Amino acid sequence: MRRLICFVLPVAIVASIFFTARSLTGQIAPDSKEILYLSPARLVSDSAGTKLYIAQYEGKKIDVFEVKSKKITKSIALDASVNDLCISADDNTLYVTTGQSDGCVCIIDTATGHILKRIKVGYSPIAPALSADGKTLYVCNRFNDNVDFVDLINNKVKASVPVEREPYASVLSKDGRWLFVANHLPRRPAAPAADDDGMDFTVEACVSVIDTQTAKEVKRIDLPDGAVDLRGLDISPDGKFVYVTHILARYNVPTSQLERGWIDTNALSAINVADQKLYKTVLLDDVQLGAANPYKVKCSDDGKYIAVTISGTHEIHVIDRLAMHAKLDTVVKDDQGEIADPLNYLPYMQGLRKRVNLEGNGPRGLALIGNVAYATQYFSDSLALVDLQTYKTEEIPLGPDKPVTQIRKGERLFHDANLCYQKWLSCASCHPDVRTDGINWDLMNDGASNPKNAKSLVLAHATPPSMITGIRASAEVAVRAGLKYIQFSQRPEEDAQAIDAFLISLKPLPSPYLVNGQLSEAAKRGKLVFEKAYCIKCHDGQYHTNMKKYDLHTTYGVDLGVPLDTPTLSEVWRTAPYLHDGAATSIMDVLTKFNPEDKHGKTSHLTEQELKDLAAYVLSL
Ligand code: HEC
Ligand code: HEC
Repeated sequence: MRRLICFVLPVAIVASIFFTARSLTGQIAPDSKEILYLSPARLVSDSAGTKLYIAQYEGKKIDVFEVKSKKITKSIALDASVNDLCISADDNTLYVTTGQSDGCVCIIDTATGHILKRIKVGYSPIAPALSADGKTLYVCNRFNDNVDFVDLINNKVKASVPVEREPYASVLSKDGRWLFVANHLPRRPAAPAADDDGMDFTVEACVSVIDTQTAKEVKRIDLPDGAVDLRGLDISPDGKFVYVTHILARYNVPTSQLERGWIDTNALSAINVADQKLYKTVLLDDVQLGAANPYKVKCSDDGKYIAVTISGTHEIHVIDRLAMHAKLDTVVKDDQGEIADPLNYLPYMQGLRKRVNLEGNGPRGLALIGNVAYATQYFSDSLALVDLQTYKTEEIPLGPDKPVTQIRKGERLFHDANLCYQKWLSCASCHPDVRTDGINWDLMNDGASNPKNAKSLVLAHATPPSMITGIRASAEVAVRAGLKYIQFSQRPEEDAQAIDAFLISLKPLPSPYLVNGQLSEAAKRGKLVFEKAYCIKCHDGQYHTNMKKYDLHTTYGVDLGVPLDTPTLSEVWRTAPYLHDGAATSIMDVLTKFNPEDKHGKTSHLTEQELKDLAAYVLSL
């Protein structure tokens, strides 16, 4: 008996002294490759609602969760990150998208768990959707900016349809004719052109409509000005509306306060399927409480509810869908008697939706079975259940509780809007996937009325100073300033250190322009042009920056003549638009339109071919 106690005690102590994925007190575990988190991302149910298939993104497997017993009954191991999945109508087959540059669709037999086939698709494939006849699978290739039509009879890609940028979610119209695709970010200039007064200037991401018969993008439905970070898409059971979740950035004002969604609001837009136009947008926030980083959206089969996972504030919102539409169809007045546009009216959803707080952290994927919502919680490796009628919740662990490392803690804090005053935003709101939202923000660190394009934070710590003007001496300083001046919160130094550790751990993803991991022929030629045009003078070294400041005559207004910090070119393929004000949408524009005086490398004498080769090289870094 004594021996048994000796054996049990140390285990109990180890489990309790660490800050774990589910109990948020204690110490931080040392960073270690041994600790493998599951990071449940997406999930799908079979047609009878008896099983849920859960894509464990970092766990590299699919767990089969039995709804009745609330237990995992089987696991299917895969050899890459599991991004997303869908299931055939007869429940016999799973279509699973995996990997990044090695993107694949794995076809899995649900009865045996065997991988029947692998079909190579594009970069970071996500959001697989199956045609009603089961013959075509539509897959969004996030970093190829296109959607593959996979022929499931011959197991090959039969068409790749270009869309705007980073297709992230998709849904078919009920007749199967149209595929609606949410573009995660806009590919547009973030600032008006020099000869434009800016009065009509907008920047927003769009929903692409693809005609599945012709395999062509036929329409781009623009969301309201400031709509970015599109994550979720679903269609109402009557087929009349498509819903899309996104952030609604209020980028036109200086980031001087947060009250009433001053900087960011969080939204749900409804698209009318019949005319393929934006119908209306509602805000998910309350007047004094944000609902940051909405993720997935799902309608219940009876059409009564819309559920939305709110990943930054760890909630599920349950919306009374019919009541919301009844209100949207009428004119609503605000307290002053003015007509209230739901898009700008924070009290609009009062009485129409219930905010349900979850115990876990980072709800992302969402599936509905009858009137129960199931959400995967990315950072707590757990599943949340919410009854849509009673709002009763249940928290189910998907694996053993693991200690939290410094890096994981930082990743979690970076995505956590509970840090922020009134929960309006997380760091990820402007730095989705720790990169850029493509928007210009008028941060207060370098004065007012000089908005700057949000920067990627990959390599920020390795390439001081920080901010394009170099106003912050290092990324460490910028991280602490972000907490204080953008989230308006006082956080312990340990939180900032954890965020540093997380950001330092990030590595650039290989460029989708590489061919088998190598420079293409054009990029090889472009590498020589890079030297010839003197790019190497400033974009030198491992990170393609000498970390020095220059005035390249790209500045104007209050910034006129201010020298700018040479940015890294690593992963520049991913971080459009370019230059400090995001005025250039392509590398070609940086080299030509925005370099009239040859101040930014010597490009005026280059031939068309040399310019193209140079752009190919820069996009490969
Ligand atoms: C409202 C949008 C917004 C939010 C929210 C935000 N940032 Fe930023 N961040 C920016 C913009 C814009 C820049 C670039 C500004 C510039 O270059 O002057 C930036 C730059 C940075 C940089 C410097 C990168 C470099 O290499 O120069 C760091 C580090 C950073 N942010 C960290 C954070 C952290 C940590 C948080 C959360 C506490 C955060 N940011 C939240 C908009 C935002
Ligand atoms: C004298 C130093 C210098 C030289 C030479 C130079 N650059 Fe730059 N580069 C900079 C600076 C500084 C910026 C920031 C300018 C801005 O934001 O307005 C920049 C920005 C860029 C950007 C935009 C990056 C982003 O994330 O927005 C690209 C792309 C780029 N340079 C490529 C090149 C190429 C290609 C060449 C050679 C033709 C070149 N640069 C030559 C200093 C230089």
